[in-house]
Amino acid sequence: MNVLTATGYLASLAVAQGLRDQATHVVVDASAHNCVQDGARLSGLPILSFASGDARALRSVLSNLPPSARPLVATDGVYGIRGGMAPLNEYLLALPASGWLWVDDAHGLGSVGPTGRGSPEFFGLRDSRIIRSVTFSKALAVAGGAVIGDASLMEHVRTRAGAYLGSSAPPLAIAAAITAAVVRVHRLPGRVRRLQELARRFSNALPSRPEILNDPRTPVTAIHPRDAAQAQRLTEALTQAGFVPPWIRYPGGPGNGFFRIALKATHSRSQIDRLSRVIQVGLNE
Ligand SMILES: Cc1ncc(COP(=O)(O)O)c(C=O)c1O
Repeated sequence: MNVLTATGYLASLAVAQGLRDQATHVVVDASAHNCVQDGARLSGLPILSFASGDARALRSVLSNLPPSARPLVATDGVYGIRGGMAPLNEYLLALPASGWLWVDDAHGLGSVGPTGRGSPEFFGLRDSRIIRSVTFSKALAVAGGAVIGDASLMEHVRTRAGAYLGSSAPPLAIAAAITAAVVRVHRLPGRVRRLQELARRFSNALPSRPEILNDPRTPVTAIHPRDAAQAQRLTEALTQAGFVPPWIRYPGGPGNGFFRIALKATHSRSQIDRLSRVIQVGLNE
């Protein structure tokens, strides 16, 4: 079941509003996207945070909650800030039966999992306690967002979330484009496999350096230059080689910004190889 929203950001707010009467605490992965952090604040519930990607830290936070607690654990599936994936299988094991796992899968949908369904599919998870917020603006190249989960959870979102009830639905043309994109991903499974193959290839070709945050399981790579001079050199190397330097400022990311590279299934292998060489040279100069 799912609920469509005008953006992925709103989908996250809708999760938090939909479950705020059910949950007692929001327990947030420290690297979760701004929309998750905002959603947590909007819920009005007590917020606790744990070290990103660290299931042991999550267990420790959960173990300090009262036995009657119904925690809503919140994380990105694929981290927007640095690529890489949250260990959802371990988070789920840490979760009490009375809790929920909220996954912002903006970067997971269409890119990870055998058929591109996203992070829970990657880990082989099917659990009625999982609720996802997604955007269609990334791998699916459209716009709009959705909350995806069990029917009873969706009922809470439909009846209680102002971000859903009080915000216009996406225009029909967008809904039609989302449907077409989802059907396309379904009909062309080779596209997802190709993206995943390119992600592994890029990862193998990249030098191992502290500035580069990469995970071969995801098409998102972040490069955090150590200073402005190195950022400038990499910008020049990329520009000269015909790449547009993907410099962004991201909420929760480094203050001055960083390079974020997102691969597409339509990139060629030679483009990927060339990009990795240019990065190597640009960072070395
Ligand atoms: C992890 C993550 N979640 C949510 C969003 C918000 O999605 P939308 O742009 O559809 O509002 C973004 C960025 O766009 C994102 O990177």
